[in-house]
Amino acid sequence: MAPIVEPIDGAIGATVTAVDLSQELDATDRKTLVDAWNEHSVLVFRDQKITPDELLSFSRYFGNLETHVLEQYLHREHPEILVVSNILKDGENIGIPDAGRYWHTDLSYLSEPSRGSILYAIEIPEEGGETLGNTIWASTAAAYEALPKPKRKQLEGLTAEYSLGNRFNKLAEDGAQHQKMSEAQKDLTPPVTHPIVRTHPITGRKSILVNEGHTTHIHGLPEEESRTLLAELWAHCTKPEFTYRHVWQPGDVVMWDNVPTQHLAICDYALPQRRLLHRTTLTGERPV
Ligand code: OGA
Ligand code: MN
Repeated sequence: MAPIVEPIDGAIGATVTAVDLSQELDATDRKTLVDAWNEHSVLVFRDQKITPDELLSFSRYFGNLETHVLEQYLHREHPEILVVSNILKDGENIGIPDAGRYWHTDLSYLSEPSRGSILYAIEIPEEGGETLGNTIWASTAAAYEALPKPKRKQLEGLTAEYSLGNRFNKLAEDGAQHQKMSEAQKDLTPPVTHPIVRTHPITGRKSILVNEGHTTHIHGLPEEESRTLLAELWAHCTKPEFTYRHVWQPGDVVMWDNVPTQHLAICDYALPQRRLLHRTTLTGERPV
């Protein structure tokens, strides 16, 4: 049985069926999945049941894994798994309670942002039959391609600053701060410079990299102009026609290509509604 890839209507995403991720996949099936990942940016697998080791084996088909800088949220036995959860144990968060309250591209505050991430849903909150804690992905490649030519020209060669501190500052402003960054984490994540538009290393598609979570300002522009252009690009990237909204079920595996996308976690639940996912993260290259 070979995996069946069916594109989701719109600019981004495909569902994959007829595949059991707890089993080893042969080279042909792996290639099918790698190609689909590059083509559709987000792949959705339903009804999976996988152990941490199986999640790690599956993730390695797509590249090398990295360990997240927020080490307090790593899985104890498997540090390559980041625990995404609002659950408390002995008063402490067992995982990062919200991994993405602002639109972002994972680890775009590092000089080499991740190539992609994979989330496996274990517990998903709901209320009165409605599933909470959805995640939305946007195709920043489709968004770039939809920009008028003069706007694309204006963005050429522009660079911006990205920092993890930006996210923590925003959380503090919004009263959603769950933890301060340690000095060591600050040292590990000095602000970095990346282009505003990057080119995909495999497909060659261009996409918009600036994102609300991590981008502080555009270099070489007056403050006000930088803010206006960033707000305009963010509003553009996240228009419904470029997005896919995932309604989670326990057993879902969703993997994304972090290069041509941004994503957002909808934080519309709270304990005793529990949310628990395991995430792996693939190393990436410096954006060009
Ligand atoms: C992430 C992330 C979104 C979510 O794990 O990178 O942004 O809905 N998660 O938990
Ligand atoms: Mn994320």
